[in-house]
Parts: sequence; structure tokens; C-alpha cells
Amino acid sequence: MTRQALIIDCDPGVDDAVALMLAFGSRELDLLAVTAVGGNVPVAKTARNARILRQIAGREDVPVFMGADRPLRREPAGAGEFHGAEGLGDMAPFEPDAPCAEGHAADAIIDLVMGRPEKSVAVAVLGPLTNLALALRREPALAARLGPLAVMGGARSEGGNITASAEFNIWADPDAAAEVLATGCEVVMFGLDATHQVRATTARIAALEAVGTPSAGAAASMMRFSQRVERRIVGWDAPPVHDPCPVAWLLKPDLFGLKPCRIAVETDSDLTRGHTAVEFREAVAGALPHRWAVSADADGVFGLIESACGRGD
Ligand code: RIB
Ligand code: CA
Repeated sequence: MTRQALIIDCDPGVDDAVALMLAFGSRELDLLAVTAVGGNVPVAKTARNARILRQIAGREDVPVFMGADRPLRREPAGAGEFHGAEGLGDMAPFEPDAPCAEGHAADAIIDLVMGRPEKSVAVAVLGPLTNLALALRREPALAARLGPLAVMGGARSEGGNITASAEFNIWADPDAAAEVLATGCEVVMFGLDATHQVRATTARIAALEAVGTPSAGAAASMMRFSQRVERRIVGWDAPPVHDPCPVAWLLKPDLFGLKPCRIAVETDSDLTRGHTAVEFREAVAGALPHRWAVSADADGVFGLIESACGRGD
């Protein structure tokens, strides 16, 4: 079996944590690195959190690189109310045994991708796209070499979650998202239209908890935190679990329905900053270089998470 080479760029973050446990436990993936970006909480915390989750999963073989501490142009803005002040819900953080790897995340992405066969390395982007945009600026040849970019971000029919018209990852650094989308990379975007179909119900959280491994326990704890917070802030009983979706698609593409499109990002207006204009009509868009997730098999995604978290080996 050819394992998919993958870099996960993320801002842990409780749903990033579940995505990481899915990736750490999926031996079908050749996880080359985890790169951390400032987003939900500052990058010092997202990098520490990635190392904590790596230690819980027993995957210190995977290097963690620290990346951008602020967006390309905008002021940093977190989402701590949805992730807890430390970014791991109500899990008390600790200083992990293994440090970050040397070097900036953007340079690590360049080195890992340029050093492997063309289109062989996928990148799952689970936070603001700042690290990827910096890598593409530093090495323009990266665009032609990259494999699929599976991005959690954006919103079309669902409306926004950080503002009325924008989803957090794209809103936090709209300039980075616009730059990445303009490079011709193969972008597959999992926006709220799809991730809102993947909900952490009480039954699914309980089934994950019953797996009984440290990874399953950590993932279930994050979802329980989300359930409490989203019930209080949004009034939802079952919170969407956004970030596992791109990783689940790389593992089992038929769990998602995708549509060819062109995605553009609003970068000028304060009111609609970060809005993703997703155009499906080729006659209007001229070309449809991107793909947009319109459906998700939630039971299938949770099945992958459970089996990945159950692999204690
Ligand atoms: O809008 C959801 C996204 O914003 C997720 O990646 C979550 O972790 C937050 O970063
Ligand atoms: Ca995230």
C-alpha cells in the first residue's frame, strides 16, 4: 500500500487536536511533519499543544515546527472562547518531553515538498493559511510541486462563524488565503457547508471515549469541551468538528461530495473580510481550478477517528 505523504499545518485548537489524533493513528498516512501557526491561540501555544498531542499519541517520530505568529498583514485575533485560554479545552497543558524541530514551519514545508517527487506530498491546512503563503512566497516553485491542499476553511451556503459572512481560518488571514488560492495549487476546501454536517453528538463522543486509549480520551475530552461551549454560546447540542474533515478526505475520499469551483476571498471590506465567494459556474468563473465540499458522511468520519484512536501500537 502506498502511504500518502502528508504535512499537517494547524492551530491546536480542540478540533485540530481531534484531526491530529486521527492522523497520528492512521498508518495509511506518512505524516512527515506537523507545522504550527498562530490562530485559535498564539503560535507558542499551538506549537506546544501539537507537541502535547504528539506525546499523548506516542508519535514523537513526527517533527513539530513552529511557524508564523501573526497573519501576513492583519493583527492576530484568536478564538480562545471556543478552545479555552490554552487551546486544549479544559485539558491542563504540560511541557512536553520532545522540543520543536529547528527552523521555521514555512522552510520545513519547502524542504519536505521540494525534496520529494512532484505532487507526492499533500498538505492539510487546519488553521489560517499564513505558513503556506509564506512558503509559496519564499519558494514559488512550490506551487507546481505540491500535492493536494486539503484546507478547512470558508463558508458558502452556511454563512460565517466568526462574522456573518466569514469562517475563522479565512477571516483570520484573508490575504494568505487569497495568495494561496491564486497560485494554481490543487485546493480542496472543506468549509462550514460540509463541516457543519459532522457533529460531535453525545453518542459519538461516548463511543470514542469507550475506545479507552489516551488518544481517544484526549479527543473525547476536546469534544466534550466543545459541546459545553457551543451549547452556551451558539445554542447547539452537538458541535461541528471541522478539522478532521480534510484528513478524513485524504484517508477516504468517498466520504465527501466535492464540486469543481473557483474560490475567491474578500480582502478589502471590513464588513465581509474573509468571505469565500465560491463560483460553480464555469461560464462565469472562466475556469474551475478548485473543489468545494458540499456533503460529508459524519458516521464515516467518526468511524475513522475511532479506529485511528484505537491503534495503541
Ligand atoms: O472555523 C473553524 C476553524 O477555525 C477550525 O480550524 C477551528 O480550529 C478554528 O481554527
Ligand atoms: Ca484549526
